[in-house]
Amino acid sequence: MSGWYEIFLGMDSLSTLAVHAAQADKPLNEPVSQPIYQSASWTFRDLDEVDAVYSGEQAGAIYGRNGTPNHRALEALFAALHGAEAAVACASGMSALSAVFLARLKTGDKVVASRDLYGSTLNVLRDLGRFGIATTTVEIDDFAAMERELSGARLLMLETSSNPRLRVPDLPRLCRVAHHQGTLVVVDNTFASPYHCRPLEFGADIVMESLTKFINGHSDVMMGGVAGREELLEPVRAVAARMGLVSNPQECWLAVRGAETLELRMARASANALELAQFLEAQPKVRKVHYPGLSSHPDYETAKKVLRNGSAAMLSFELGASRAAVNGLLHGLKHVRMALSLGGTCTTLSHPATSSHRFLSQAERDALGLHDGFLRMSVGIENLPDLQADLEKALSQV
Ligand SMILES: Cc1ncc(COP(=O)(O)O)c(C=O)c1O
Repeated sequence: MSGWYEIFLGMDSLSTLAVHAAQADKPLNEPVSQPIYQSASWTFRDLDEVDAVYSGEQAGAIYGRNGTPNHRALEALFAALHGAEAAVACASGMSALSAVFLARLKTGDKVVASRDLYGSTLNVLRDLGRFGIATTTVEIDDFAAMERELSGARLLMLETSSNPRLRVPDLPRLCRVAHHQGTLVVVDNTFASPYHCRPLEFGADIVMESLTKFINGHSDVMMGGVAGREELLEPVRAVAARMGLVSNPQECWLAVRGAETLELRMARASANALELAQFLEAQPKVRKVHYPGLSSHPDYETAKKVLRNGSAAMLSFELGASRAAVNGLLHGLKHVRMALSLGGTCTTLSHPATSSHRFLSQAERDALGLHDGFLRMSVGIENLPDLQADLEKALSQV
């Protein structure tokens, strides 16, 4: 400390001291937790150093939008969790997806998308129509239609376990069909997380996740991640930096910290989810449960092939098709609250018709069966009997 203090001793201007005097020697030993590099810009000794950092010859940071060591740490982590060569961290799941679309698609391209996708993803694809990029939606298990539509398509967009019907695509088979046509396969793995699925191992080219959800796991961060081969991700990284789709160092740091307990949280939450799915299936007020770990789910067999360590922590269930039924349930619950996100430590409910799928047309929602009594549940790590008691009591009031 004394070194810096002495350098500034001779200075007599308060304003200069106020700007420059907050200095400390860099510790020569490593902190256990990575520092947060809360700086939007970085200094350079001279022009040679500028060139060296830009060219990648010397490790260094340039400007917040190009990323900081906290971005690089999160990217290294996300790449490692998916066994990928490279990763890019973005400001949200949607900015990660947008960066992929903007980097990989151009006017005249065709996208084939699963009919079961998060509503905002379908809307972004629809927006791209204004730039001459057409999207066709297909049922994930209609292989004849998939093969037909994939002919000449640039990109196939799937979700490992879809929002909110939990449809699980046969990733190895669809990747084979898509690659036969030269189509790039992008998989949104948000619901599964790398604990339950690593889509690159099944042949997907790019895996994307909303890190806002299970990776961070504490409902306090907005982040997205994309992983895959370096040659595919290089343009994604460039678009994200150029268009400002990146996050800030603090959020990256939080996501890295949250991910440390990913396996512990997922193991507990998905064990709870299976129990709750079975419990809900036995409740007279519940018409139907959607969970790929139940033999009643259309993708039960596929899920055994695609998901590991269980069937993940998301499930959906249907009450009678009425808002009053849903409100009755919500008013009766003590621990389980309504929150329009997922992947935190606490069990939450969401209502696709009024939130995630609100902006689809009524006909599109009807086709997916997303009526007023359809609820999606993100299962947390609470004590299972407490959750069951909470739901049992609230269901009795429906
Ligand atoms: C499956 C899926 N993908 C992407 C997103 C978008 O992520 P974010 O909210 O971090 O932009 C969500 C958000 O709910 C989601 O459920």
